Amino acid sequence: MDKIIVTGGLGYIGSHTAVELSKKFQVVVVDDLSNSTIEVLDGISKISNSIPIFEKLDLKNKEDVKVLFQKHNDSIGLIHFAAYKAVGESVENPLKYYENNLSSLIYILQEIDNLKTQFNFIFSSSATVYGQAKTLPITEEESIKQAESPYGNTKQISEEILYDYSKINSKINVISLRYFNPIGAHNSVEIGELPIGVPQNLLPFITQTAAGIHEKITVFGNDYNTPDGTCIRDYIHVVDLAKAHIVAIENLILKKSNSNYNIYNIGTGNGISVLEMIDSFIKVTGLELNYIIGPRRQGDVESAYADNSKAMKELNWKAENSIEDAILSAWNWEKKIRSL
Ligand SMILES: NC(=O)c1ccc[n+]([C@@H]2O[C@H](COP(=O)([O-])OP(=O)(O)OC[C@H]3O[C@@H](n4cnc5c(N)ncnc54)[C@H](O)[C@@H]3O)[C@@H](O)[C@H]2O)c1
Repeated sequence: MDKIIVTGGLGYIGSHTAVELSKKFQVVVVDDLSNSTIEVLDGISKISNSIPIFEKLDLKNKEDVKVLFQKHNDSIGLIHFAAYKAVGESVENPLKYYENNLSSLIYILQEIDNLKTQFNFIFSSSATVYGQAKTLPITEEESIKQAESPYGNTKQISEEILYDYSKINSKINVISLRYFNPIGAHNSVEIGELPIGVPQNLLPFITQTAAGIHEKITVFGNDYNTPDGTCIRDYIHVVDLAKAHIVAIENLILKKSNSNYNIYNIGTGNGISVLEMIDSFIKVTGLELNYIIGPRRQGDVESAYADNSKAMKELNWKAENSIEDAILSAWNWEKKIRSL
C-alpha cells in the first residue's frame, strides 16, 4: 500500500481521516499531542483493525521534520492538519499561532523540496477565509477578506505560501480544502471531538449543556438578516469531511487536474441557523435544552454555506450524512466520554 503522512492525525479531523485513509493506504500519524491524547491512537486502531505508524514529534522543530522525511522517504503524500485552531487564543497570543501554523508548513515544504519524485499535499484550510461572503452559497471564486483573527490569517498566509511554492515546483501537487463547520463523531464512538475548555463551536456546547456541564446555551444575537434572525452555518459530518481527503489525495495521485494547485469548498451546501440546530438536537434526542438570546458575538459572520459543486464535479465527492446523523453521533460521543 502507498504511504501517506497525516500530520495532526490524532486530532479531531485528522483521526477520522486516518481511519478512512487506512482502508486504502499505509498511514503514518504525526502528532505532538499538544491538543490530543495518545488514546486516540487506540480508537483509530480499533476501528480500522490495524495500528497506524505513530511518530510523536513537534513539526515546529525543523530537525524533527527532516528526520520524519528521511524515515518515511517512501511516502507519496502528506495531509497537513497539524495547527493550533483556537480563534480567541490566537488573538491573545498571535506569535504562538504564527510560529506553529506557519513554521510547520514551511519546514514540511522544505523537505518536499529535496524530493526527486512527485509529491501530493492536502492542506486543511477553512471557510473563514471568505469572511462575510458577498454571494451565497459561497463558491471558490469568492474574494478573500481581511482575516478576523491571527488564526484565520495563518490559513490565508498558508494558502499563499502553497500557491507561490507550487508555481516553482511542478513536482508538488496541492489541494487546499476549505472546510465549513465539521461536527459529529465516528459512529463507533471510538473517536470524536475533544474540545479543551469551553467550546466555541455550537454543537459541542449544545451536547455539553445537554450533559449538564453548562446551565444554558446563549444564542449570540437574533437580529441578523436571516429567516429566524440567528447566524447560519454549513455543518458537515466529520466522516464526510474525512472522506473528502481520500478522494482529494486520489485525485492528485491520478493527476486528474491540469493545475498543481487547486482549492475546494467542503460543505454540505445547506445553511442551518443556530435555532434550527437547537431544535434539531431536541427532536433527535428527545431532550430538553435551556437557551437564551444574548448579544451578538464579535467576529461572527451572518451567514456562510458552501457551493460545493466544484468538489462534487471534480472530486466526485458529496456529503452523505444528514444533520440528524451528525447530531446523534455527537450526542452518543458526549454520552460516552461523560459515562452517561
Ligand atoms: N475543527 C474545525 O472546525 C476546523 C475548521 C476549519 C479548518 N480546520 C483546520 O483543520 C485542521 C484540523 O483541525 P482539528 O479540528 O482536527 O484540530 P485538532 O486540534 O483537533 O487537531 C490538530 C492536531 O494537530 C496537533 N498539532 C498541533 N501542532 C502541532 C505540531 N507543531 N506538531 C505536531 N502536531 C501538532 C495537535 O496535537 C492536534 O492533535 C487544523 O489545521 C484546523 O485549523 C478545523
